[in-house]
Amino acid sequence: MNKAFITGVTGQDGAYLSRFLLEKGYEVHGMQPRCEVDNTERLADILSHPRFFLHAGDLTDGGNVFRLLHEVQPDEIYNLGAQSHVATSFQIPEQTANVDALGVLRLLEAIRTLNLGAKFYQASSSELFGNAPAPQHEKTPFQPCSPYAAAKLYAYWMVRTYRESYGIFAVNGILFNHESPLRGEDFVTRKVTKAVAEIYCGLKTHITLGNLDAVRDWGHARDYVEGMWLMLQQSEPQDYILATGQTHSVRQLVEIAFAEIGREIVWRGMGPDEVGYERKTGDILVKIDPQFYRPNDVHFLCGDATKAYEDLGWTPKTSFRSLIQEMLHSDLAQVERSKHMDHLKEKNERVFRHAA
Ligand code: NAP
Ligand code: GDD
Repeated sequence: MNKAFITGVTGQDGAYLSRFLLEKGYEVHGMQPRCEVDNTERLADILSHPRFFLHAGDLTDGGNVFRLLHEVQPDEIYNLGAQSHVATSFQIPEQTANVDALGVLRLLEAIRTLNLGAKFYQASSSELFGNAPAPQHEKTPFQPCSPYAAAKLYAYWMVRTYRESYGIFAVNGILFNHESPLRGEDFVTRKVTKAVAEIYCGLKTHITLGNLDAVRDWGHARDYVEGMWLMLQQSEPQDYILATGQTHSVRQLVEIAFAEIGREIVWRGMGPDEVGYERKTGDILVKIDPQFYRPNDVHFLCGDATKAYEDLGWTPKTSFRSLIQEMLHSDLAQVERSKHMDHLKEKNERVFRHAA
């Protein structure tokens, strides 16, 4: 039985990858960082799976990384753990470097010194390209423009250095943005689908965003974790881009999500004064808040995943529209559930007050 070790198992990709590997018959071990609140929400349905194990750990703790890898002796290591929010990396650059750059070095050093022979997947990012001309492919020169991207660039080169110097099977998956109903709520796709669901249910009047003109190549996380696995099943370690080659702006994302609830958005104004209002009613549904602008932003990402298609047979299966529909329907169901719970709570409180 193959044994996989996943850092970042409690995150979006960790949750999809764990299910994917369990279905393939793997024993899956995940590193779970300590957290004040329960961080296993995305793993709820596999927590009691007999081949799924969680280990307390942290990528900033070298001793912990060594001990866990020594104990688990995995065949495959997927390093998904990161401070993954680009805007946040401007606020906590040192912590971002510690996790996203040095965390990778700690894992690679453990593989080398423990002589593990495990294959290693590194979650590299299209952020490495910054504002390099599109479409970006494996040979496009990197131009990182955030502390997050710079940390990921260090990690990218460490993977190549350990591969070329010590013969470790280590690969970089340079993944373009991928989303899902399990996406963190402060990434723009989920922020939009959650807000649209809340507006639909009458819990909120509008959404506040930053740069509407940023363009991304958005795919579905479920499709991308298969590509990660495929990279480790090759005879030679190589770096691959995973992307859809299709682009949308944040503005289009907003229009598509509101259209799903039957509300057509029209734009008026410029820059921070721009608003999005509903054509039929004139209601303002989108406002801009400069606090969501970044000190530097990546304007246009569009990936060329030809190499992954040719070598791995990988193609994305989910269109952007169905991705947004799936996220929105999941958020609508979640908002309805929490409204129902609030209603029950209120009712119970009324009964108790009456009884008292
Ligand atoms: P995510 O949902 O933010 O998950 C990140 C995971 O890293 C969480 O499980 C988090 O744990 C964990 N983590 C944070 N600090 C850690 C530390 N010090 N030690 C150990 N674990 C730590 O991110 P994702 O979207 O699944 O992305 C997975 C990886 O792919 C990340 O490395 C990201 O940078 C990279 N990536 C993502 C995309 C994308 O579009 N999703 C594209 C390219 C690359 P807690 O939250 O439980 O603390
Ligand atoms: N988060 C956020 N919130 N982004 C906004 C907002 C807002 O209110 N308004 C506009 N945006 C713009 C950002 O300025 C950015 O240009 C774009 O929407 C996408 O932002 P995010 O969803 O936060 O993702 P990201 O592209 O910065 O980073 C994600 O993708 C990378 C791969 O390209 C993350 O998953 C990274 O970890 C990943 O490496």
